[in-house]
This record gives sequence, structure tokens and C-alpha cells, in this order.
Amino acid sequence: MAIRKIREMGDEVLTKTCKEVKEMTPRTLELIEDMFDTMYEAYGVGLAAPQVGVLKRIVVIDTTGEDPIVLINPRIVETSGEQTGSEGCLSVPGKHGIVTRPNYVKAVALNEDMEPIEVEGTELLARAICHELEHLDGHLYVEKVEGDLMDMEADDEEDEEAYDEK
Ligand code: NI
Repeated sequence: MAIRKIREMGDEVLTKTCKEVKEMTPRTLELIEDMFDTMYEAYGVGLAAPQVGVLKRIVVIDTTGEDPIVLINPRIVETSGEQTGSEGCLSVPGKHGIVTRPNYVKAVALNEDMEPIEVEGTELLARAICHELEHLDGHLYVEKVEGDLMDMEADDEEDEEAYDEK
């Protein structure tokens, strides 16, 4: 188990476009394990590789604490509906803002065995998929915030509708 340092807004690595993963290696598997460890340690529900300083198209998501998902080279292939709600990011600590996302998302990706998978989700999972995939192209949710970026209040942690990456 290894916890990696989470890069924060202002770090150039968060603005870069990540590279596709061509083959699974012991090093990349270790990265994925470390990403889960780092995400859970931060009480997060999603983390993208550039957030730990690695420019690879890999994200990990677990919106329930019991459904870990690894998405390698992910691509959104279908969306529908709309949801407007609070969102935050482990790379933008202590802040949140209102972002509108599709309410349903279907993505295709590879799993850690480099086998094709399809993941679909609504609400929080749909939001997580959108949020995390944007990290792979160097974008942060703050670019999409409607109104002002707000300071996190203690109450927000009890708002189950909020996606604050944690
Ligand atoms: Ni994020």
C-alpha cells in the first residue's frame, strides 16, 4: 500500500493531455493500486492518474465504497438527461461549485487485464465518470462551475447528492 501525493490546482501536470495505456505492466498495476489507496485515504470516490502526477489515461472510481472501478483509456459513448449539483475535486481542496452534467453516462474502457469493458451509471456515478475523464484531458471542474467557486462547509459533507470527489 502506497499513498501518493495528490497534485493540486496550479500544478501544471493537471493541465496536460494524458497518454493512452498500450500494455499493462507491473509498474502500471502498482500505479492503479496506489491510486485506490490514495483515493480511499483521502475519502475520495474518484481519482485520475494525473492527480498523482502520472500522465496516463487511467481513472479509478468507487462511489459506494464497495464498487471499485478501473477505467483505462476510457471514452464516453452515450449520455442522456441532465443533473445540476455540487461538485468538488481532491485537487481543489476545500472548494465546491455547481456543475451541470448528463444524468446518464455510458463509457467504454479497458480493465486492468486490458479487456474491453462497458460501464454505465446515473446520477453520482455519471457525474464521477464525466469529472474523472476530463482530468485525462487536462481539465478541472472549476472551468464549468456555474456561479462562484464556494468554500466547503461542514454541512456539505452530509449532502449525498454532492459529488466532491470525496
Ligand atoms: Ni477531480
